[in-house]
Amino acid sequence: MKTYVWDVRNYVDDLSTYPQIDEIIQALKANEVIGIPTETVYGLAGNAMSDEAVDKIFKAKGRPSDNPLIVHIYEQEQIQAFAEIPNQTTEMLMDAFWPGPISFILPMKKDVLSKLSFGQMDTVAVRMPSDKVARQLLKLSYLPIAAPSANTSGKPSPTHAEHVINDLDGKIFGVVVSDPVEVGIESTVIDCTSYPFKIARPGAITQSMIESIVPGCIVPFNYDLKQPIAPGMKYRHYAPEAQLVKVGPFDTFKLQPDEAMIAPINEHHKVEGHVFPLGQSYNDITGAMRDLYHSLRSADQLEAIKVIYITDFEETDESMALLNRMNKAVSGK
Ligand code: TXA
Ligand code: MG
Repeated sequence: MKTYVWDVRNYVDDLSTYPQIDEIIQALKANEVIGIPTETVYGLAGNAMSDEAVDKIFKAKGRPSDNPLIVHIYEQEQIQAFAEIPNQTTEMLMDAFWPGPISFILPMKKDVLSKLSFGQMDTVAVRMPSDKVARQLLKLSYLPIAAPSANTSGKPSPTHAEHVINDLDGKIFGVVVSDPVEVGIESTVIDCTSYPFKIARPGAITQSMIESIVPGCIVPFNYDLKQPIAPGMKYRHYAPEAQLVKVGPFDTFKLQPDEAMIAPINEHHKVEGHVFPLGQSYNDITGAMRDLYHSLRSADQLEAIKVIYITDFEETDESMALLNRMNKAVSGK
C-alpha cells in the first residue's frame, strides 16, 4: 500500500484551507486508518464504529486485540451516543481538563462501537485531545475516532511524524504530518466506573492536579497491581532494541562505542560518547517527557548499539508518569 503523506504544517490554524483536507476526511469516513498528531503522542486514527477500520488499526500496529482502544471526540455531546457520564465528579474533571491529555473510562452503551475492540467490554475510555490539528479533524469528520499510539506494538510511542512513517509506512492509508508533539507521553487514564476513581495509567495530568479539582476523588496509581486496570499496562512496552539501564547521579561517564546515554542536557558535559537529551535539567520533567521517546528511538538507531543508559529521576507527583514509562522501557528487555 502506498501511504499518503499530508504535510499540514502551514495550515495548522485553519485546516479547511489545506488543499487535500477533503481527501483526509473522506479517508476517515471510508474507514481507512491514518496517522494523526495529538498533544500527547501521534495516534493511528480510525472510525471507532467500524469493524473494518478497527481491524486495520490492530493489523497495522500488530497489536493484541484484547487491548481496548481509546475513543477520541471533538465535543462532549458526542459521548451520549456510546457511553454514559456516571456522575457529576466525572463531569467536573472533564470540564477542568478537556480538551487535554486525560482519558476517562466510562460505562459503555452496547452495540454502537465496533465489536472488534469493544465487544468484550462494558466500559470505554474517552478523550478530547487539545492539539489543533486533531481537534479540526475530529470536528470535520464528526466521528468517534479510535486512536492508539501510532507505533508498531512494543516500540516507543511516536512523538514526531517521522516516527509514524518509520513504523507504519506501507501499512496505513496516510499520515498527517504536523509538528512534534507538546506532551510526549500518552494521556492519563482514569477509571470513573467506581468511586473513588482510580488512575489506570499516569500521565501529564497528575494525581494532585485531579485532587485539586475534587479532593479525595482519586486513589493513587499502584505500580504493583497484579491485575492492571488498563489491559495495555501489562504488555512489554516503550522498549528500545538495545538493553536499557538506569543510572543515578554521576561525576563523569565514559561510554564505550557500543553504548549511549539519555540524560538532561545540563549533564551532557560530563559524558564522553553518544548522548541524547532528557529535558534541560533534573527539574525539567515537562522537557524530559517530551524528549523520552524520541531519544530512545534515536539512541536505538545508532549502529551496533548494545546498551543505553538513562538517568533516573526523583519520584514526585509530577515525575510519576515519566518514571512509569522509563521503568517499563527498562524492564522490557
Ligand atoms: O495519549 C493517548 O492516550 C494516545 C493518543 C493517541 O490519544 N493514545 C493511546 O492509546 O495511548 P493506546 O491504545 O496506546 O493506549 C490505551 C490504553 C491502554 O493501556 C488500554 O489498555 C487502556 O488505555 N484502555 C482503553 N480502554 C480501556 C478500558 N475500557 N478499560 C481499561 N483500560 C482501557
Ligand atoms: Mg500505545
